[in-house]
Amino acid sequence: MRSLAGFRSLAELTTLTLFIACLTNALSLSWPSISARDLRKRANTTTIPAPIVVSPSQYWDGNDGPWSSFALQVGTPVQNVRTLISTASEFTWTIGAAGCPTNYVPDCVNSRGFVFNPNQSLTWVPNSIFSFELEDNLGKDTTGPVGFDTLTLGWQGAGGPNVKHSTIFNIADSQYWMGQFGLNPRSTNFTNLNDPQPSFLTQLKNNNSIPSLSYGYTAGNQYRLNKVFGSLTLGGYDQNRFAATNVSFPFYEDISRDLLVYLRGVTSGSTNLLPSGTISIFIDSTVPWIYLPLDACQAFEKAFGLTYDPNVNFYLLNSTQRTNLQNSNPSVTFSISPNQTATTEMVEIVMPFAAFDLQIDFPYIENPNSSYYFPLQRATNDTQYTLGRAFLQEAYLIADYERQNFTVAPCTWDANAVNKADIKTIISPSTKLNSGGGNISVGAIVGIVIAIVAIIAILGVLLWWLRRRKQGEKRRLAELEAKHGPDAKDSQDSEGKPMISHPIGGELAGAEVHELTAPHKPFAQELDSPHKLDPNLVGYSEADGGEYFGPGKGFAHEAPGSQSHIYEMPGSEVQEMPASERVHENK
Ligand SMILES: *[C@@H]1O[C@H](CO)[C@@H](O)[C@H](O)[C@H]1NC(C)=O
Ligand SMILES: *[C@@H]1O[C@H](CO)[C@@H](O)[C@H](O)[C@H]1NC(C)=O
Ligand SMILES: *[C@@H]1O[C@H](CO)[C@@H](O)[C@H](O)[C@H]1NC(C)=O
Ligand SMILES: *[C@@H]1O[C@H](CO)[C@@H](O)[C@H](O)[C@H]1NC(C)=O
Ligand SMILES: *[C@@H]1O[C@H](CO)[C@@H](O)[C@H](O)[C@H]1NC(C)=O
Ligand SMILES: *[C@@H]1O[C@H](CO)[C@@H](O)[C@H](O)[C@H]1NC(C)=O
Ligand SMILES: *[C@@H]1O[C@H](CO)[C@@H](O)[C@H](O)[C@H]1NC(C)=O
Ligand SMILES: *[C@@H]1O[C@H](CO)[C@@H](O)[C@H](O)[C@H]1NC(C)=O
Ligand SMILES: *[C@@H]1O[C@H](CO)[C@@H](O)[C@H](O)[C@H]1NC(C)=O
Repeated sequence: MRSLAGFRSLAELTTLTLFIACLTNALSLSWPSISARDLRKRANTTTIPAPIVVSPSQYWDGNDGPWSSFALQVGTPVQNVRTLISTASEFTWTIGAAGCPTNYVPDCVNSRGFVFNPNQSLTWVPNSIFSFELEDNLGKDTTGPVGFDTLTLGWQGAGGPNVKHSTIFNIADSQYWMGQFGLNPRSTNFTNLNDPQPSFLTQLKNNNSIPSLSYGYTAGNQYRLNKVFGSLTLGGYDQNRFAATNVSFPFYEDISRDLLVYLRGVTSGSTNLLPSGTISIFIDSTVPWIYLPLDACQAFEKAFGLTYDPNVNFYLLNSTQRTNLQNSNPSVTFSISPNQTATTEMVEIVMPFAAFDLQIDFPYIENPNSSYYFPLQRATNDTQYTLGRAFLQEAYLIADYERQNFTVAPCTWDANAVNKADIKTIISPSTKLNSGGGNISVGAIVGIVIAIVAIIAILGVLLWWLRRRKQGEKRRLAELEAKHGPDAKDSQDSEGKPMISHPIGGELAGAEVHELTAPHKPFAQELDSPHKLDPNLVGYSEADGGEYFGPGKGFAHEAPGSQSHIYEMPGSEVQEMPASERVHENK
């Protein structure tokens, strides 16, 4: 009877053990699948490249500036040219040899940032003669032979980014005195080619040289801190060049006018310089000028004593006017907003007179070949309203072509900050799969926690059961002892406890539990890293903090050249832009 009872307990215990084993097995079944997924992710792990900081040429160029230019290496063997930055253009243009006829100023070649001779490049692939289809609204479209060639940003040896098949126009006229590097990531369409030609930025993104289709740019100027060069970052921005705002602008639906903002007011002191109220205006570094409606220009004339020269169509400043303005040193505040009426989202860009104190040269004016001028232009219709390069002397522009939004923030002029870039990465939203990976991992963690809780519960039940059994035994032994004497206890001991309690307890506390916790730990560590790089949780996307690009809230400082590892989403990387196409037609 007694031995039978012992046998039954043993059977029960075996059943329980089996049950536990089954349960843990069932729970652990999910692990191979998790780690398989994890491995898959690992197999597709890609390196997120750091943003590229493009060094300025350290030259001041242009016949309507001066402007901080950027060096380009074109063709094979390399020909060096200096160009300005075009936020509107999706291609690059250079000045051809015919751009310096004999009747031009003597230092024409240097003044135009040097010429590019396609016929001296072994890698030049000619296409045909096309018009730019750029700045049509300003009457500044032009035409030239176009082709494809190797293009590297920066001076030789600077290790700048390189694209093998970049679209390059080569112009001879003076519509644009300098060549320009196109920042816009749209592709260029030619009527004689079926395929849209990818932009420089797109090609960098496609071969994983930059983290996203985005840039940060400000034009620089000569009047702050003993001259500050322009700043261009691809795939990120320089946090040290601007003051954080909490305003972000959506791209305008017409992709050729994506950087459109509402100009809500222009003031100088208490003077209203935008009398007829809010206009929508295009931010565009291709042209230097600020185009405003006629009544606004007249308000400027009145406030600053400007005179429009109808022969050259500029507000030229003679020395008296300039000295007066330098003495009174008025500043002009541009209030821009993504909103036509609401007063909450407003960015104010304050331009001191020095920002308007520019020089216009040959061939805009001749004899004399140079004059000071105020870079204001009378718009003939509302498509001409433009905040040109002069505006970007005091504003920092961040454009994110994948999220389809941009930021315009006032520049800051702290000498220490300006001299030391603080580059932030803009991570492509398609890198978001991490959060998906994170979700899976959270699920796995929950599973593991449940498993551990279950094991602990089972252990508890087991211990309780063993203790109860032991107590029952003791009682029985006491009874036995009372009946048969002390020897009966020994037989019970050798038969029961050592055999039962030890192996089972050992198995649970040892092997099984360790097996459970082991995968859990590395998993939790792995979770950390994708979260750190998740643009939704930290860094670039700071919607939760309410401040875009707020100090101390950015992505951990990333030195140029440093790289972080991250899982990349398979497939569609580049967000497709809305339809409306422009096609270059032969002329
Ligand atoms: C302006 O340019 C023309 C054409 O090169 C030249 O003949 C003339 O001397 C220049 N004038 C001045 C003031 O530089
Ligand atoms: C190359 O172009 C330059 C400038 O257009 C021209 O003077 C020269 O004749 C051309 N050379 C050849 C071999 O076509
Ligand atoms: C605006 O003016 C420019 C220059 O005069 C002209 O080329 C363009 O067609 C005009 N646009 C509209 C919509 O009237
Ligand atoms: C991208 O392409 C350029 C040449 O076009 C090459 O030098 C560079 O190594 C490529 N980068 C990657 C990450 O493939
Ligand atoms: C942005 O900041 C300004 C003050 O700096 C505040 O008045 C405004 O309400 C803020 N807007 C939003 C949308 O947080
Ligand atoms: C400068 O221009 C103003 C306004 O047109 C004019 O009144 C003044 O006489 C000019 N001064 C000189 C020195 O040309
Ligand atoms: C674009 O929008 C995201 C999310 O709203 C925001 O975090 C980011 O700062 C914006 N980017 C720019 C350049 O304004
Ligand atoms: C890696 O991603 C590519 C798509 O980018 C996908 O086709 C491939 O199956 C993935 N590899 C693994 C091992 O999942
Ligand atoms: C060229 O065509 C592509 C696709 O058809 C389009 O996405 C792109 O915006 C076009 N480029 C321009 C400059 O319109």
